[in-house]
Amino acid sequence: MNIEVITGDITTLPVDAIVNAANCGLLGGGGVDGAIHRAAGKALFEECLKVVAGLPGHQGETGQAYLTGAGNLPCKVVIHTPGPVYQDGRHGEAALLADCYANSLKRAEEKQCASIAFPCIATGVYGYPKEEAAGIALATVKAFPARAVKKVVFCCFSREDAELYQRLVAQQ
Ligand code: APR
Repeated sequence: MNIEVITGDITTLPVDAIVNAANCGLLGGGGVDGAIHRAAGKALFEECLKVVAGLPGHQGETGQAYLTGAGNLPCKVVIHTPGPVYQDGRHGEAALLADCYANSLKRAEEKQCASIAFPCIATGVYGYPKEEAAGIALATVKAFPARAVKKVVFCCFSREDAELYQRLVAQQ
């Protein structure tokens, strides 16, 4: 599996799958979630409504991953994964963040996606410390038994985040 680190806007990437750092409501919000919904258009929102309707309590679970189409986006599918809200690191946050990456890769495999792009899940509004989150992201992706997925892109929104990932990739 080839791992790439870039700085950019995930809504522009022509990969097979992009991952959305969603919330459990799965109907959009701010940050990358807002950007993806804005760029994808109404069709994505309509599809998310259908996904939510089929879920217990009509909402998603932290660490799980939910696949939809991509509306007007250049990618083929969007995988929505609610990250953990960081409290103090003693409430299972690390395991839940790892689940976001592993379950997103599972959804991508199920769809035979060859490429997938991740944002820095939970490190914005949800306050996950960036360095720790990047370590979990890389370790989970590298440990995943990928068959269909050949390329993973870590799409950072800032140069600082990209440099953090590049440092960790260089160390491994
Ligand atoms: N492309 C790539 N990355 C982006 C983009 C974009 N267009 N926009 C924002 N980001 C980055 C942020 O800079 C951050 O590094 O995505 C990362 C995740 O930040 P958030 O979007 O705030 O997501 P998160 O911390 O997981 O919080 C999720 O915030 O936006 C709401 O609806 C969302 O309630 C959910 C919560």
